[in-house]
Amino acid sequence: MENKIRETIDRRLCVAPMMHWTDRHCRVFHRHLVPDALLFTEMVTAEAIIHGNLDRLLGHDKVEHPLVLQLGGSQPDRLAMAVESAAGRGFCEINLNVGCPSDRVQSGRFGACLMAEPKLVADCCRAMIEACDLPVSVKCRIGIDDMDPETGLDYFVDLVAEAGVNVVYLHARKAWLNGLSPKENRDIPPLDYDRARRLATRRSDLSVILNGGLETAEQINAEVIDFGGVMIGRTAYRTPYFLTTIAKDFFATPPPSRRQVAQAMAEYADRMTKQQVPLHSITRHMLGLYAGQRGARHWRRRLGEQARLADHAGSFIRKACDECEALAAQIAA
Ligand SMILES: Cc1cc2nc3c(=O)[nH]c(=O)nc-3n(C[C@H](O)[C@H](O)[C@H](O)COP(=O)(O)O)c2cc1C
Repeated sequence: MENKIRETIDRRLCVAPMMHWTDRHCRVFHRHLVPDALLFTEMVTAEAIIHGNLDRLLGHDKVEHPLVLQLGGSQPDRLAMAVESAAGRGFCEINLNVGCPSDRVQSGRFGACLMAEPKLVADCCRAMIEACDLPVSVKCRIGIDDMDPETGLDYFVDLVAEAGVNVVYLHARKAWLNGLSPKENRDIPPLDYDRARRLATRRSDLSVILNGGLETAEQINAEVIDFGGVMIGRTAYRTPYFLTTIAKDFFATPPPSRRQVAQAMAEYADRMTKQQVPLHSITRHMLGLYAGQRGARHWRRRLGEQARLADHAGSFIRKACDECEALAAQIAA
């Protein structure tokens, strides 16, 4: 089966889905930093979509586009229902989470434990593809537990590809489902970019996007050659301006200055706070904007400690930015 839409999505630079981190405000911030990157929602379960408030779960600002919706689930018919509900809301792709190792996710029988059930994953993908006109992708690990990462990963990817998936976001480390917390599972099993590379080479008909531990421009520029793109998670969140360094190497659009990003977010914050969104739920994602720069500590403190007390959202952010840049200039002089 073929995915129905001809692919026009640029996946060279993706920002990873991160639960409780990459919410809609964070994504607006990332979008102002990198106009051309592909952004992802946090994982939303199929059941939440079927039973929940769609505006709350799937609502987002158009500025976030292109935006991929990540789903969690393991029942083909339920996933198809969720995909139907999400259709027409502006997402450019639907992604199935087959990489999350948390206990809560395992007990719902989805996430990384599904790597042990490739036929079921293929059925899920087939049902999702039939339910919409969008590309359907998977995000997975190179294996779980004692699964052989050579034959196991090849078999898994071949089955989902046969179901019509042609994009795989690959976190290049195994997940250990027993004994490690989700946090430990993001660091402890070692990364194996060579295994990921072998998959990308063997299945050069697919787009394999490399994820896991990508932290420097040199590393990313060296690795991306063999892949359809890179997906950056924690580094994008903690040091967000790093995204512009990568974007400079990938895209023609000149990167914005930190001040321009802060200004854009000030306007956004003004709009959102008028809709009763608390300012700190926006600024909490922006604490790292000046990371590594003079004035970084002032910025972090000001936004982190005083956003709750601010009367005017936009002017609070603008003022913090002015102070921070003035401080940097003073120190430099
Ligand atoms: C706080 C947090 C939440 C995450 N939530 C998700 C999620 O909802 N779905 C998912 O597929 N991966 C999730 N991940 C995993 C990331 O998408 C990514 O695969 C992982 O962090 C490795 O990439 P990195 O080394 O660049 O951070 C999460 C990671 C973090 C740190």
